[in-house]
Amino acid sequence: MSTVKIAIDGPAGAGKSTISKAIAETLDFIYIDTGAMYRTVALKAITNHIDTKDAQAVCSVLDDLNITIRYDKNGQVIFLNGKDVTKEIRTPDVSIGASDVAVIPEVRLKLVQLQRELASDNNVVMDGRDVGTYVLPDADIKIFLTASVDDRAKRRYEEMLEKGCEYSFNEIKKDIEYRDQNDRNRAFAPLKIAEDAVVLDTSGNELHESIEMILKVIMGKMNKNDEK
Ligand code: DC
Repeated sequence: MSTVKIAIDGPAGAGKSTISKAIAETLDFIYIDTGAMYRTVALKAITNHIDTKDAQAVCSVLDDLNITIRYDKNGQVIFLNGKDVTKEIRTPDVSIGASDVAVIPEVRLKLVQLQRELASDNNVVMDGRDVGTYVLPDADIKIFLTASVDDRAKRRYEEMLEKGCEYSFNEIKKDIEYRDQNDRNRAFAPLKIAEDAVVLDTSGNELHESIEMILKVIMGKMNKNDEK
């Protein structure tokens, strides 16, 4: 039986991971968070005191980079050379570093291979920046999630507050603007809307409204694909 692939792309803070996770749970699919993999490369570079903008130095950590993914009741758990780094990769420094290392083609090629392997035999919801355009260009359903910069920064700020982190709204907004710029303008597999993607703007939505809106699009597309 063929598997179903759902690609969800969009800029930082658009709600991709929370929404993708909820959708994967509803459909009983596997959720693959590709951003976590770029974050893990950044964490390794930062831990080794490597400038995440120095492509040659970042590439030197790739040989000894072993990323593994497991799933538990809370979703994806990510390991860097055997160590669980699921929480460690969520700091603002790692966010910026992830956007920097994601510009480097060698990093992307290594991670895309892993992403395709994970998706090969499973029904998946995969989120990122280039899933519909590059990682899984034949995905059955492609969604591009977006929202205003202020909305996205507000969401991230509230998430951080909940975790007890003390970053100002302006710091978080600046991070998001930096990453938008970096992710959209890199040469290799930049963030862009796939031609066959459905674009959904989640500005002003409550989380459950966005989830319902996206599930409706997905169910509609799945039913249409079944009829073909
Ligand atoms: O989704 P996220 O915010 O956790 O991603 C962190 C960074 O990783 C993001 O700013 C850009 C990069 N990334 C990417 O280039 N391609 C992906 N498929 C996923 C993330």
